[in-house]
Amino acid sequence: MDSKNFLFLLVLASYHIYFVTSSFETYTVEVIDGKIEHLMFHIASKDTDFGNKTMTINGTFRWKFRRNFDESTLYRGEFFWMNADGTPLQEVDFNIFNKDVARECGQSILVDHKCFWLVTDTGFYFAKDTPGNWVFKYKWPLSG
Ligand SMILES: *[C@@H]1O[C@H](CO)[C@@H](O)[C@H](O)[C@H]1NC(C)=O
Ligand SMILES: *[C@@H]1O[C@H](CO)[C@@H](O)[C@H](O)[C@H]1NC(C)=O
Repeated sequence: MDSKNFLFLLVLASYHIYFVTSSFETYTVEVIDGKIEHLMFHIASKDTDFGNKTMTINGTFRWKFRRNFDESTLYRGEFFWMNADGTPLQEVDFNIFNKDVARECGQSILVDHKCFWLVTDTGFYFAKDTPGNWVFKYKWPLSG
């Protein structure tokens, strides 16, 4: 095989690997309100903004996305624990999805990874695959 053909095959193979990985590494992230009567949150990435969502106890919000090949996908979450009158009581923001969360949630291709965030009065808990075996991550500023 001459070097021109080899280069062509190399480019083809690289493109194939790029296509497979970038097309199939999908994530579904679900936010569960476990205990907050009036929860509001705002989740956004560079390209997507879900706006302010309000939720009551046992409410869920989920979205699915393909991760960028360069691992740059980042969703920021701002959470507001609201008073009944609609004024915020406490506020926290953190990266609800980034490459560290992806690592924790699972990174094999050809699988739709499921990541869960449980919000309670004691803080924010993470789980992968199913909503259980919660790992404590963040607390509300005034709790604990
Ligand atoms: C979302 O809620 C926050 C906090 O109350 C507020 O500052 C912001 O303007 C709201 N954004 C929209 C788009 O309503
Ligand atoms: C939330 O779900 C739990 C478990 O299913 C249930 O026991 C509880 O009554 C629910 N609370 C509300 C406010 O819906």
